[in-house]
Amino acid sequence: MVQPGTDPRLDHRRVLVIDDSPAVCAALEVLFSLQGAQVIGAASPAEGLAVLQRQPVDLVIQDMNFRREATSGEEGVRLFHDIRSRHPDVPIVLMTAWTHLETAVELVKAGAADYLAKPWDDARLLTTASNLLELREARAEAAALRRQRREARAALERRFNLCGAVYESQAMHTLVSMATQVAHADVPVLITGPNGSGKEVLADIIQANSAVRAGPYVKVNLGALPGELIEAELFGTETGAFTGARARIGRFEAADGGTLLLDELGNLAAAGQAKLLRVLQSGQFERLGSNVTRTVRVRIVAATNTDLRAAIGDNRFREDLYYRLNVIELEVPPLAARPEDIVPLARHFLDARHSLAAPAEQALEQYPWPGNVRELRNVIRRACLLSQSAQIDAAALNLPAAAQQPEAPTPDRTAVESALARSEGNVSRAARELGLSRQALYRRMEKLGLKTEA
Ligand SMILES: Nc1ncnc2c1ncn2[C@@H]1O[C@H](COP(=O)(O)OP(=O)(O)OP(=O)(O)O)[C@@H](O)[C@H]1O
Ligand SMILES: [Mg+2]
Repeated sequence: MVQPGTDPRLDHRRVLVIDDSPAVCAALEVLFSLQGAQVIGAASPAEGLAVLQRQPVDLVIQDMNFRREATSGEEGVRLFHDIRSRHPDVPIVLMTAWTHLETAVELVKAGAADYLAKPWDDARLLTTASNLLELREARAEAAALRRQRREARAALERRFNLCGAVYESQAMHTLVSMATQVAHADVPVLITGPNGSGKEVLADIIQANSAVRAGPYVKVNLGALPGELIEAELFGTETGAFTGARARIGRFEAADGGTLLLDELGNLAAAGQAKLLRVLQSGQFERLGSNVTRTVRVRIVAATNTDLRAAIGDNRFREDLYYRLNVIELEVPPLAARPEDIVPLARHFLDARHSLAAPAEQALEQYPWPGNVRELRNVIRRACLLSQSAQIDAAALNLPAAAQQPEAPTPDRTAVESALARSEGNVSRAARELGLSRQALYRRMEKLGLKTEA
């Protein structure tokens, strides 16, 4: 028994029912108006499309056949696609005979749609309608939030050079804003974060918006150099400093008046750490093999994926150096912690000839990205090279299998029956509880010989 006016989500909604049976339209009219909704009936696809053209509609409930003699469901499929292409966001409930369930399942995969087998159960239809409206609201909110962030980013970009950084997450927006703010100051910045997360991009933003942006920008990767060469690289050498050494200026001198990015700082050994501390404090150093003290003015940006605090704990990193460097610390979150950035980044890495199919984008969003943005870039580049078609599908991404969701164990009859009992026959809810997709639960119910209609 359905209580009148129990669902505020349906209140004042406009529901379009497209069904050739006046009896169906009348029944739905009663059902939905008890919830405060307004029902508009349309007897044919053409009439339904005309209504949609004329006025805003919150929800469509459509039949699959519109003539007494038609049973193929083809008309319904065509109508569904027509509505979808013209009104991509309007939720659609397909009312279908059990024989067309497969077709309906295929159609609703695209989202913002659901299906019910005829004859329908009133309470279930209301729940389905309410869920779809809730989903649409959530999507609209998410879209509004995305729009706001894009605007915030555009505003930031009018004032600062963002070096082409792509993001839509709040976390990155905050981080990039901070980078632009600290850029002017003449203080060292420490950028931490996992491999490939975009630390260097952030360093570039700091450099590009700093007071010394016209000066040199020197990057040195301390992780790529053998320990004994690091000091020579940073501070330079005098002829004869060691066998075969020629006079050579170091990176500090090269960066004088500009910015020096010390990448993979965690790899610097004790002697180098002591020298670095001295330059940071006084700007002074000597080339290897020289007694002449030189002075430079260099803005230091350091980046590392090592946990420096842990390194201090096991005496691998000097605490005083750490405190010198981390006056400002920017922590780049792993890509998986900011899923809103995944699709924008993926689209950014595509070449001009390719696009991503919707299921491919979903697969990207679900993958955990242990290699962060760099891994995403490589996946997209590879897919562009290897994909046979202009639209890259999920399979062409060739994502490592380890990331795929583990198969849920197949529930036995008792589990299915009790889940259905608890959900009062609501298949969606039961499926959620069992950790299955609704289609999978239907297949399971068929196999177990359970009735799929209450
Ligand atoms: N927000 C972003 N927008 C556009 N490109 C990005 C972004 N973040 C990262 N990238 C790209 O991803 C790749 C890896 O980023 P980056 O080199 O900055 O990472 P990292 O944190 O310095 O990595 P590592 O720890 O390996 O040094 C680069 O090609 C970079 O241009
Ligand atoms: Mg880097």
